[in-house]
Amino acid sequence: MPLDYDPFSEQAMRDPMPLYAAMRAEGRPHFMPRYNAWALTRFEDVWEASVHHEADVTFTAGATPAQVLLGEPVPHAFTTMDAPAHRKWRGVIRKEYTPDGARAHEARFRALARETLEPLIARGEFDAYADYANRVFCLNSGYNLGLPREDAITWRALIDEIMHREPGQRGGSSPRNQAAGMQLGGYLYNYVQTLRADPARATGHTALYLNAEIDGERLDDAGMVSLLINFLVLGSETTPMVVAGALHYLEQHPEQKAAVCADHGLAESLYVETCRYDQPTNMLCRRAVRAFDLGGVRIEPGQNLLYIYASANRDEAEFPAADRFDIFRRAPRDLIYGAGGHKCLGMHLATMGAVILLEEFLRAAGNYTVLTDRCERAYGEHLSGYTRVPLRLHGAAGA
Ligand code: HEM
Repeated sequence: MPLDYDPFSEQAMRDPMPLYAAMRAEGRPHFMPRYNAWALTRFEDVWEASVHHEADVTFTAGATPAQVLLGEPVPHAFTTMDAPAHRKWRGVIRKEYTPDGARAHEARFRALARETLEPLIARGEFDAYADYANRVFCLNSGYNLGLPREDAITWRALIDEIMHREPGQRGGSSPRNQAAGMQLGGYLYNYVQTLRADPARATGHTALYLNAEIDGERLDDAGMVSLLINFLVLGSETTPMVVAGALHYLEQHPEQKAAVCADHGLAESLYVETCRYDQPTNMLCRRAVRAFDLGGVRIEPGQNLLYIYASANRDEAEFPAADRFDIFRRAPRDLIYGAGGHKCLGMHLATMGAVILLEEFLRAAGNYTVLTDRCERAYGEHLSGYTRVPLRLHGAAGA
């Protein structure tokens, strides 16, 4: 029977890997008539589309499957612009996210990690995602935007509500999702108004974008709110899932756990392999504006494309024994952060922050056990990974 792949099906939202393997085995992009869309599941196809066909697709139709395939509203931010406007608006913040830009925040980020970890270590049992990694990345994103620190818990909860999917829910437009979106939008709108009334109070990314003028255009209130939501979500959603997932996967591979516990210098290899093995940005979408050939098929203008990174990073043709978790693997290239002109802006921050979180945990925690039967994964079409990884410590190593 021909494969009937639907990114919003129960199986795809719960455990898509067998579907991805089946589509890769087809040896070409997989067409989905109901969405007039091609699923790109092989490494080479996603790479080729990202690196060589940016000008043949538009980002303005959205980035998430719900936006591109279901027509949900598309926020007006640089992530959904095409070149050259994309490069100019992304450029406003570029310096903050270079390797040096990320390193400038290393000491502050490490202090945040230590301060968060200390009471957790004393408690002896905690969730590596909610209590630790997600909390630190949220506080960091809030800092980058100049938001009051005490508000982080509130906006964090709203983002969780926006992302929430009931079993079988298609896309993110349930009343629950919309109510949370309105509330977060209202909170950020008020924040923007306060800063417009008193511009000297604006800091970080918010100040840069409030003051930016490109080709005579400035961001209006809706543009500012979209931008801030983007930075809050992208800056706090994915990386913590990888940090929590890394500890989960170590538990399942005792030899690799012993190696990492003996040599914390392996933290980066652990992070990179967890990203590859369990890519948190399951997929992003684009729409073709010109005809082009890709992976043996002809893409027509108006057709949608799913760049399924989680599948590409498990492609045997690129990664020998791709389904094996192996922190000692050295891959010449990967699609962890995508590729091409829209390649992840936050990649240096994400890597640095994740490595710090893992190093600090290993330094302070000593021996630990993951309570595997209580771990939980994200459910939905867009993001994938662990959102709950409870740990029990067996006597802390001490600072
Ligand atoms: C594990 C961590 C992360 C992963 C795996 C990840 C992955 C990705 C991927 C695959 C893309 C699309 C790239 C493409 O279109 O080719 C992307 C875009 C983006 N990411 Fe990340 N990301 C991570 C963390 C972060 C963080 C911490 C930030 C902080 C702000 C961030 C900000 C962005 C932005 C702004 C874009 C859109 C760039 C553009 O359209 O120009 N990401 N990311």
